[in-house]
Amino acid sequence: YPVYAQQAYENPREATGRIVCANCHLGAKRTEVEVPQAVLPDTVFEAVVKIPYDTNVQQVLGNGEKGPLNVGAVLILPKGFKIAPEDRIPEEMKEKIGGLYFQPYSADKDNIVVVGPLPGEQYQELTFPVLSPDPNADKSVKFGKYPINVGGNRGRGQVYPTGDKSNNTIYNASAAGKITQITKAESGGYAVTIQSADGGTAVDNIPAGPELVVAEGQEVKAGEALTTDPNVGGFGQVDTEIVLQSPARIQGLVAFFAAITLSQIMLVLKKKQVEKVQAAEMNF
Ligand code: HEM
Repeated sequence: YPVYAQQAYENPREATGRIVCANCHLGAKRTEVEVPQAVLPDTVFEAVVKIPYDTNVQQVLGNGEKGPLNVGAVLILPKGFKIAPEDRIPEEMKEKIGGLYFQPYSADKDNIVVVGPLPGEQYQELTFPVLSPDPNADKSVKFGKYPINVGGNRGRGQVYPTGDKSNNTIYNASAAGKITQITKAESGGYAVTIQSADGGTAVDNIPAGPELVVAEGQEVKAGEALTTDPNVGGFGQVDTEIVLQSPARIQGLVAFFAAITLSQIMLVLKKKQVEKVQAAEMNF
């Protein structure tokens, strides 16, 4: 869950650029983002995050049964950008947003926003209303091009913050040897006993969820899969850019083009004038 990231990491983006959700959500799946190429200061715009998956597919739930997937996302905006206040969001944008609730990543990071978990059937497309900062009002912000990083996840993670595996992941043999016993646990799941060549035994407990792919009597290597990997979800990261555009810069550019056009015309006129003088001089 995003809250696991909020509790464990001060910044959701590691120095390598990787978003931390990927540390526990091990499957890799696509995430997409759409933002304008450029925005003017103090303007509300949409950032649309897409987390596509096949809604016919079900995943393993905490109790081992099958159920639908949920989605969640983290949006890392440039400094100064934040979720637009309610009264600045236009009506049509409100309709697209629906019942989404946006949470700042932490008290001092309101440019980083998390959402979820949300039912994936309704929310494969998430619309974030973003307000751009005004460099004229806030001197710490400058016009220019900035990166935006987005992480989108569907489905349950494989590791809990405690380091324990969830039941939505593959289980492997902790030792090499022969599987002497497989017992069904009361809570679903199995206990797999492996006897190694030196006589020691290891017991691997497998929760309800992943399906066994080994049988009693079978020899296994250490680390060999005892189960299938039930994970059907995954996390994806996309990076994009946005330009915080100064209106004065565009006005300046237009004025510059006008000046160039005018001076080119003047040069042509001057040339015509010189030609006339030359033509007149030839008569004498
Ligand atoms: C579950 C998103 C970070 C571990 C979920 C779910 C979502 C989600 C949407 C619900 C999935 C479902 O029910 O189908 C995210 C996002 C993250 C993030 C967007 C980053 C901002 C993490 C981190 C960890 C983690 C850092 C590990 C420390 C888990 C686990 C579950 C889960 C174990 C399953 C919980 C259960 O059902 O028992 N996450 N997550 N997640 N997440 Fe994350």
